[in-house]
Amino acid sequence: MNYSDKVMEHFMNPRNVGELDDPHGIGQVGNVNCGDIMRMTIRVEEGRITDINFKTFGCGAAIAVSSMVTEMARGKSLDDAVKINRDDVAVALGGLPDKKLHCSNLGTDALKAAVNDYWKRNGEAHKVVPLEDEHLEQEADQKSACCGSNERGCGQSSSSSTA
Ligand code: FES
Repeated sequence: MNYSDKVMEHFMNPRNVGELDDPHGIGQVGNVNCGDIMRMTIRVEEGRITDINFKTFGCGAAIAVSSMVTEMARGKSLDDAVKINRDDVAVALGGLPDKKLHCSNLGTDALKAAVNDYWKRNGEAHKVVPLEDEHLEQEADQKSACCGSNERGCGQSSSSSTA
């Protein structure tokens, strides 16, 4: 599969990996196509994302996508952050192979889920936006990024991956 230089660079050197302490919003989604999991945590000041981290139990494209999404979202207002869509991310990464386009949904939807979580916690549930894709059920307070699948030895508590 051919990946752009940008995808490879973000895969080899992912930005903003980890989990924030005391996050203001948590988004965790699972891809129904492959069972991969993405978790994002955000901190928000005056309606802007001031810090953002991710953990991925997923493929290389998902790692590159997550890294790019965190870079695109940092500093944005919440309203602008939820407008970042899978096409924006794919373009920013110099393109993704067709078979890997669904991976970009995981990143943008984890971001949307984190912002939605923030809005719900802060009495702004009316602002909640729909996700772009259908996902496995994931609870925001779920600490494990394990999908329960047998793929890739999953079934144990695992929070990040270099798959
Ligand atoms: S193959 Fe599942 S996120 Fe990429």
